[in-house]
Amino acid sequence: MGIVIAVANQKGGSGKTTLSLNLAGAYCDDDPELRVLVVDADSQSSSVRATGAGEAPYPFTVVNLAAAGKNLDREIKRIANDYDLVIVDCPPSVHDKNTEVAVGASNFVLVPMDASALDAWSTVGMLQLVRRTIGSNPKGCGIVFNRVNTKTTGYAEVRAAMAEDNPYPILKNTIALREIYKTSIGMGATVFSVRGQRTAKQAKDEITAVAKEILTIVGLIED
Ligand SMILES: Nc1ncnc2c1ncn2[C@@H]1O[C@H](COP(=O)(O)OP(=O)(O)O)[C@@H](O)[C@H]1O
Ligand SMILES: [Mg+2]
Repeated sequence: MGIVIAVANQKGGSGKTTLSLNLAGAYCDDDPELRVLVVDADSQSSSVRATGAGEAPYPFTVVNLAAAGKNLDREIKRIANDYDLVIVDCPPSVHDKNTEVAVGASNFVLVPMDASALDAWSTVGMLQLVRRTIGSNPKGCGIVFNRVNTKTTGYAEVRAAMAEDNPYPILKNTIALREIYKTSIGMGATVFSVRGQRTAKQAKDEITAVAKEILTIVGLIED
């Protein structure tokens, strides 16, 4: 069975869909033989919609399991048999049953957040759900800062606050605010497949670094 990564946080707009699709792009870019699947567990179906936006198909498969309800767990496990890596794009709520079920079905939960007090507050609730569902194993979950300017003191403060009373690692690698993340999804692409964009290189590098760091935390590759 493939490894399952859930991308979850309760705040809409924290970057779950953007990271799900781009991480899938990173794993395919690193190893074109890898069978990668994105499961859209959000009833807004953003991941599924994005697949239809471009001319060239994604190098990975996207399926919509948002309506699977209490069978989501079984469906993820069944479908994971046919893939090496499954990324579950979760809905923006801890009260949505799909979030809890996806967290329970995954090997690793990636929690994206931006460096604001509002995101920090909502992330606390998400981490409580993870703790209740999978326990406090530090290999089971990690926080990634998205849309950040790492030079600001605000970022340093929020990062330090998130490290308190939290059993899970905060990824060393971060994702910056870049227009390319917005435009590429609208073109049905990821930063790995988008053409003619100068900033794609930096975006590719940071997404690849996050993708590798996840596999390192899980213990699949060495540091
Ligand atoms: N690193 C980033 N830089 C610029 N825009 C981003 C970044 N991450 C996400 N966005 C934009 O923010 C919005 C919300 O992101 P999205 O991935 O849809 O979040 P979620 O799935 O958590 O609701 C989208 O318009 C997306 O293009
Ligand atoms: Mg989304």
